[in-house]
Amino acid sequence: MAKPQARYACQQCGALAPKWAGRCEACGAWNSLVEEVPRSAPPKSLGRATSRRGGPAIDFVGLRGETAGPPRRLTGIAELDRVCGGGLVAGSTILVGGDPGIGKSTLLLQAAAAFAARGSTAAYITGEEAIDQIRLRAERLGVADRPVGLAAASSVRDIADSLDSAEAPDLVIIDSIQTMYLDTLDSAPGTVSQVRGAAQELIGLAKRRGFVVVLVGHVTKEGLIAGPRVLEHMVDTVLYFEGERGHQFRILRAVKNRFGATDEIGVFEMSDRGLVEVPNPSALFLADRDDPTNSEAGGRATGAAVFAGIEGTRPLLVEVQALVAPSLLGTPRRAVVGWEATRLAMLTAVLDARCGLSVGANDIYLNIAGGLRIVEPAADLAVAAALVSALTETPFPADTVVFGEIGLSGRVRPVGHAEARLKEAAKLGFTEAWVPKRPSGRRAASAEGLRTVEIGHLSELVARLSPPRRRLVSPAERPPGRVAVAP
Ligand code: TYD
Ligand code: MG
Repeated sequence: MAKPQARYACQQCGALAPKWAGRCEACGAWNSLVEEVPRSAPPKSLGRATSRRGGPAIDFVGLRGETAGPPRRLTGIAELDRVCGGGLVAGSTILVGGDPGIGKSTLLLQAAAAFAARGSTAAYITGEEAIDQIRLRAERLGVADRPVGLAAASSVRDIADSLDSAEAPDLVIIDSIQTMYLDTLDSAPGTVSQVRGAAQELIGLAKRRGFVVVLVGHVTKEGLIAGPRVLEHMVDTVLYFEGERGHQFRILRAVKNRFGATDEIGVFEMSDRGLVEVPNPSALFLADRDDPTNSEAGGRATGAAVFAGIEGTRPLLVEVQALVAPSLLGTPRRAVVGWEATRLAMLTAVLDARCGLSVGANDIYLNIAGGLRIVEPAADLAVAAALVSALTETPFPADTVVFGEIGLSGRVRPVGHAEARLKEAAKLGFTEAWVPKRPSGRRAASAEGLRTVEIGHLSELVARLSPPRRRLVSPAERPPGRVAVAP
């Protein structure tokens, strides 16, 4: 038989090319093509259209049937269970991605240990670290006496041989999928075809034997799970474990879940004894708010507003911080951490065009405190409040939260879950909330002990943040001397 023709697979997008090139035609990535030799056995001919039984090869059935909800098993780590939609579903595959060193191995070792402590069986297979390293970590996490089967292996054939039995564990952790290899493929571990092939084997095995398999996946510079987007299509659940360097807490975020909602997050704190669940994240994110006594503007800091947000099903309060400074450049500088830069551009345009300010001409620095990333449009009003507060040097009231979406006309639009946001704010001791004006006939959301102020248009927010005795000055008009200039 002729030797199968080599082909080149892009490690970024999985596209195949017959010839090597410096740049992938499909996704434009540079230097991402790697030679792969396809399986030597060609696919079986598709000529046979009937099954061995003589009838058609597949049977069609009706939509109604005896189907119970998916059988779930709890790991005992409540944040992980909630992100997975209420526990792990037997026979399913979970992919956990994240930057190196963020704590994936730690989280999954803790999950395996907690799972085993509840009477189920768990196995942890590492292709990256030595057994001793994992044992040391287990010691540090205080879980060394839990009945978790530990193995260092990277051959999928060996793993499948050991697990393909009725005594297979209920949970299998594979750390990481990039280190696994199939000896039927010629390419090196970590290439698209190896990752895809290895994952396919393990997923098939998990389905057949009814165990949960968790695959750890590395991420690329761009933050995607290394190599194969294809992997994300093959698995049932994709979780990203993220966090800011220098911050203690970590966020587990579901980006795909066939068995639950995808907007859930789980919050953990990295301690010297592993990851600790944070059941009340608002308190954590507000914990390092600026010291109110340490500010020149009437004892309170300017340019900071507390946003009452929702992450998944949970309310979450975070501080939005803005700094507005006169620009010395032709194109003013924008630095945004934790929010979309395009959304900021839209907001500054609306503030300029609809409220008569000149925010857009300044350098703007925007930060979501604590390293959280916010995607909700409801944060618009909080960001606007922080910007206006910074520009007018008027402190945003310290006991107030704010939320609302802003349209291009400057109108403030209502957002969902108002009641939950207000309750969380009241729980944490806030006494006032600036909320979108409700449409006529709609019942007002409220929470005990919280005064609500309805804001219908962005200009009303601006009016509230510029006291009548103080004329609104844009930094460009400010007297010189406030800005550091070289002598
Ligand atoms: P790790 O789980 O190895 O990360 P990943 O598998 O995502 O690469 O986490 C390693 C980091 O976590 C390392 O920098 C040390 C830190 N860490 C703690 O701070 N406390 C602990 O108890 C443990 C086990 C790790
Ligand atoms: Mg690891």
